[in-house]
Amino acid sequence: MIDWGDGTYERTAEQLIDATEAALERAALRPGERVLDLGCGSGNAALAAARRGGVVTALDPSARLVAVAEARARAEGFTLRTAVGAAEALPFDGGAFELVLSVFAVIFSDAPERAAAEIVRVLAPGGRAVITAWHPTGAISEAGMLLRQALMELSGGPPRPPPPWGDPAQVVALFAPHGARVTSTDSSLRFEAPSAEAWFAEQQDHHPVWRFAERALSSRPGAWASLRERSIAALEAGNEAPGAFRVTSGYSIYEVRAR
Ligand SMILES: C[S@@+](CC[C@H](N)C(=O)[O-])C[C@H]1O[C@@H](n2cnc3c(N)ncnc32)[C@H](O)[C@@H]1O
Repeated sequence: MIDWGDGTYERTAEQLIDATEAALERAALRPGERVLDLGCGSGNAALAAARRGGVVTALDPSARLVAVAEARARAEGFTLRTAVGAAEALPFDGGAFELVLSVFAVIFSDAPERAAAEIVRVLAPGGRAVITAWHPTGAISEAGMLLRQALMELSGGPPRPPPPWGDPAQVVALFAPHGARVTSTDSSLRFEAPSAEAWFAEQQDHHPVWRFAERALSSRPGAWASLRERSIAALEAGNEAPGAFRVTSGYSIYEVRAR
């Protein structure tokens, strides 16, 4: 189980602000609406919603990140309700929120069907969820897939299909049994670093998922070095700025409308 409180996820979150703003724009939040930031991390979406007048609850499996979100909100004069928990078993009554936001977060659930059911359960009638999810193509997604593959091989279990979130048709099917309708739009984010190696080193030092992978693969000699080499090759192949490193990562913004 990955501990997202490990490392310094905050550094990544700083690079996702534009996606948070795009999600909030799509959500068209009205002041006074009850909002759940599901998988709040260091609180980007929770804060953006509070600034727009939302009554915000921030939830994450990482107690450390929930505390970071809370402190950031306090520093701006907002009070968040907070909870440590996960998408598959939300500790809230049915119909508790007009809006659920999940910016690159519920996509990490190991049980997407259960998470989708929970999201719809906590939405008030006519409420909506706005979820962002990376496209499965592009240099960074490819590096992510190599990492996922390496961890799957290490576990020795049967190969698991990729999560549904990169495919709009699968996301529609995920929510359809709950009577919720899904629409999607596309957007993109740009990531920059001095080089592909530097981008990888940043993840290795600070990002909880990459740190988890390095520790897990240390039991198999050469596995981490091989993953690093293949990841950097994939990043280089998608590099848009020879002499430095720049890649554009596409993502979907899903809007899920409850009945
Ligand atoms: C890439 S971060 C995104 C954080 C934040 N939403 C942001 O925009 O910076 C992924 C977040 O999802 C959370 N997460 C992972 N698995 C989860 C689950 N099953 N349910 C809810 N959140 C989860 C992690 O703890 C982490 O904070």
